[in-house]
Amino acid sequence: MNILNNISLKSYNTFGINAIAKHFVSVQTISELKNVIQLKSYPNKLILGGGSNMLLTQDFDGLVIHVNLKGIFIISEDENSVIVKANAGENWHAFVMYCINNNYAGIENLSLIPGNVGTAPIQNIGAYGVEIKDTFQSCEALSLATNTLQSFTKLDCNFGYRQSVFKQKAKNKFIITSVNFKLSKKHHNLKVNYGAITAQLDVMKVTNPTIKDVSKAIISIRESKLPNPKDLGNSGSFFKNPIITKTHFNLLLNNFKDIPSYPISNEEVKIPAGWLIEKAGFKGKRLGNYGVHTNQALVLVNYGNAKGTDILNLSKLIQKTVKRLFGILIETEVNIV
Ligand code: FAD
Ligand code: EPU
Repeated sequence: MNILNNISLKSYNTFGINAIAKHFVSVQTISELKNVIQLKSYPNKLILGGGSNMLLTQDFDGLVIHVNLKGIFIISEDENSVIVKANAGENWHAFVMYCINNNYAGIENLSLIPGNVGTAPIQNIGAYGVEIKDTFQSCEALSLATNTLQSFTKLDCNFGYRQSVFKQKAKNKFIITSVNFKLSKKHHNLKVNYGAITAQLDVMKVTNPTIKDVSKAIISIRESKLPNPKDLGNSGSFFKNPIITKTHFNLLLNNFKDIPSYPISNEEVKIPAGWLIEKAGFKGKRLGNYGVHTNQALVLVNYGNAKGTDILNLSKLIQKTVKRLFGILIETEVNIV
């Protein structure tokens, strides 16, 4: 175990914020992780995966634990399905590609989402009509209190839209070390009805899509909408799409005839936060070296050397304005550190 001091986290977060970690350790094995947890001299700890869902607003005066556990294993399989275990430090998109190359279906719609496998259950990552909960079987996590591994079933995880037990009562109490997925080996149930997937498959002249085709279509749609963090610092959607009552929605319709909505239940609808932020006048707004993305109002961006506090203050102004105009509080999706 090699604990480093005064390490810049700039290349460890997709916003590209230059915060300094007082102490930093990258762990490759469970026993290393257990040893680190035992150390009494570092009471203040930050768990780091791919850094694609966090906004660093200050230097971190403690120990950053970079979870770098690698490995993908077949746990069991039969004619129709396979249980695959991936360790937490595996890159999510690389894992999706591994599954597609082996013709294991179920997570192809989640292609090109940044970050690591171990973080994926925390907000139940989702895109294009699929969430990780659809193929999640279980995960293992190290308890910070007891330093022992604990297994979480799908039921234990209490998954919802960008939500799980790891953002509720288990928040900051566990480090996820591996995740098991149940994927299909044949009779794949392709999900192509969401958004522009079928239109993109048409452009690709594909009439009988494979999981690889669906993945390619999604990659192409995502590349056209979302900025690549390598070119422009960002953390994907900064806010969650809010869910409001139909009564509230009907009131809004009186003033905003074109407000989009997606049905959630008989009583509730989901509103795209990107629309609310665009309508509030923030889309493409640039304040020096940070701002709101020109193509996607839900994405805040760092044009270079922005401070986390600048971006946080902009996000608060957006929240306040959206609340004043529409009476809707948009909650942050990104973890503020
Ligand atoms: P990190 O940013 O490293 O960590 C996120 C949080 O989890 C932090 O609070 C951290 O302390 C904690 N954490 C990290 N690892 C562990 C662990 N092993 N155990 C316990 N806690 C841990 N998300 C979607 O759902 N759908 C999308 O379509 C999507 N698109 C995106 C597009 C772009 C361009 C970007 C930049 C982000 C996007 N995201 C999307 C958000 C992000 O990719 C996911 O939330 C991803 O799961 C974050 O993983 P990470 O490893 O980078 O997390
Ligand atoms: N919209 C606007 N203006 C904008 C952006 C969006 O009006 O600038 C409206 C449009 O009506 C558009 C609708 O919002 O049709 C939806 O936009 P988009 O398809 O881009 O999806 P989103 O709701 O903004 C969500 C997820 C993404 C995920 C995509 C695809 C959340 C918070 N975000 O975005 O996830 O990739 O759907 O499924 O749920 C992330 O979580 O980081 C993320 C990128």
